[in-house]
Order: sequence, then C-alpha cells, then structure tokens
Amino acid sequence: MRLKLAGVCMGLALAGAGAAFAHGGATGIVKERMDAMSEIGDSMKAVGRMLKSGPYDPQVAIAAGNAIAGHAGEALTELFPEGSLQPQSEANPAIWNDWPAFEDHAGDLQSAALALKTLAEAGANKQQLAGAFGDLAGTCKACHQEFRVKK
Ligand code: HEC
Repeated sequence: MRLKLAGVCMGLALAGAGAAFAHGGATGIVKERMDAMSEIGDSMKAVGRMLKSGPYDPQVAIAAGNAIAGHAGEALTELFPEGSLQPQSEANPAIWNDWPAFEDHAGDLQSAALALKTLAEAGANKQQLAGAFGDLAGTCKACHQEFRVKK
C-alpha cells in the first residue's frame, strides 16, 4: 500500500512537472502532438548532424525514417481532432477547413520518411541521402507554411 501510494505521488509530481515545462503549459492532445512533432524534429536533427559533420552512418537515417514515418500519415492527423486549439497551440484553424490538404501533407511526410529509410537500407551514399533528406525537410516546410502559425 505504501509503495503504491508513493508511486501515485511520483506520477503526479512528474505529470505536474511535465505540464509546467512542456510547450508553455499545453496539455492533452495538443501536448501529445507537440511531443510527436518534437520527436520528429529530433530525428531530423540527428540525420542533419550525421550528414553535415558526422561519419557516414546509414543506421541514423534508417532509425529516423522509421520514427518519422511512425508519427506521420494517420498517426499525425488523428492528433488533430476538429477544433482542438488551446491558446498554446500553433495549429492554424485552416486545418479543419482544408482537411484533405492537411492529410496530403501528412501522407507526403510519411512517403518522404520511408524514401529516406529505403535509400539508406539500399546502401545509398551521403550525397544521395542528403537529397532524400532535403525532400523530407521540404514536406515539413510545406505543411508548416500552410497550417502552422508561428507564435
Ligand atoms: C501535416 C502537417 C505537418 C507536417 C508534414 C509537419 N508538421 Fe510539424 N507541425 C504541424 C503543426 C500543425 C504544428 C503545430 C501544432 C500545435 O502547436 O498544435 C507543428 C509543430 C511542429 C513543431 C513544434 C512542436 C512544439 O513543441 O510546439 C516542430 C518542432 C515541428 N512541427 C517539426 C516538424 C518537422 C521537423 C517536420 C518534418 C520532418 C514536420 N514538423 C512536419 C504540422 C506539420
């Protein structure tokens, strides 16, 4: 019983800390998608570093391609239920006026992530990976330009 309570308190403390520090207090589905986007961003940074200044390591691109693809497509769009806007959110309400376009961008992200992964698995060189990485980054930019409001 003591142990169980201690666990609950820990959980609450951690949840509190998370809410206080993450993305200016976002909670719920908005925080969930910010976290997913942050993970996508971290994967991109890892590949960018490897391509720019690290030793050639296709595993970095394979891992990132997998991770990003897992957060893309439907996994991404389902984190945007209609009208889910808290003040902290940078989502553009236009998402829900132009849902098919938003879905297309989420699908493009997935295809581009899988393309990077497939190239890396096939033994592409750094330059080829850089090309696929550029295409992938283009899908971020395309969606952000249309559907993300910079605050
Ligand atoms: C289908 C559209 C779409 C695609 C594709 C997309 N994003 Fe996003 N991204 C968004 C939206 C919308 C937000 C704002 C979400 C919110 O604040 O509620 C966002 C927010 C972010 C954030 C900020 C998260 C935070 O902590 O507030 C990062 C970082 C990010 N995206 C990185 C990326 C990267 C890197 C890629 C490409 C590899 C990418 N995104 C692709 C729509 C997209």
